[in-house]
Amino acid sequence: MKNIQISPSILSADFSQLALEIKRLEEGGADMIHIDVMDGHFVPNLTIGPTVIKALRKHSSLKFDVHLMISPVHKYIDDYADAGADIITIHPEATENLEQSVNKIKKLNKRVGVSLNPESKINLVENLLNQIDLVLIMSVNPGFGGQKFMPEVLEKVKYLKKFRKEKNLNFDIEIDGGINFENCKEAIEAGANILVSGTTIFKSNNGDIEKNINLLKLK
Ligand code: DX5
Ligand code: ZN
Repeated sequence: MKNIQISPSILSADFSQLALEIKRLEEGGADMIHIDVMDGHFVPNLTIGPTVIKALRKHSSLKFDVHLMISPVHKYIDDYADAGADIITIHPEATENLEQSVNKIKKLNKRVGVSLNPESKINLVENLLNQIDLVLIMSVNPGFGGQKFMPEVLEKVKYLKKFRKEKNLNFDIEIDGGINFENCKEAIEAGANILVSGTTIFKSNNGDIEKNINLLKLK
């Protein structure tokens, strides 16, 4: 079994002091930093872009797990690679040619992820599972933090875990949206090995990040 890793989403952080918030996550034991990039077009919300990510890069040695919710995504991939992303995750619906965009990310020597919305079917990515590093299963409709977890997406997580074993592949299974201390156990049991969490990490237990990370890891 893969180790469970926590990727806190800075969407729930204090945006007026992101560098400090990232430091707090690092001190609290985060395995990587989840950065939600939204364009107000692919999703109905707008966040940050490559300039801010680049500015944050020098404040942390943790991997930047960059979740691009922007369309068309292809022409912007270079900017996020330059800004210091370590993992670049894209949505199939946001590019004209998913394989081409996946290859572009790989050529830039970044880890590549493909994200599936709750409504998106596995077959959008199945033929690329031997080429990608990560599948990000959305357990809410992307756009906002603090939404309610959709347990039905765990069927996709289970399918991916089985597929990975049968084909002897090694991609990570990440889950994103509404993860809390109750559903993290089911998500892990279903096969997720990277848990994204914004609200639970930053707001539970008076913002005790270390405690919240450990609780999500079932420690
Ligand atoms: C939603 C984002 C998530 C979100 C998670 O579009 O992709 O990463 O910030 O936040 P919570 O944990 O609050 O659902
Ligand atoms: Zn995300």
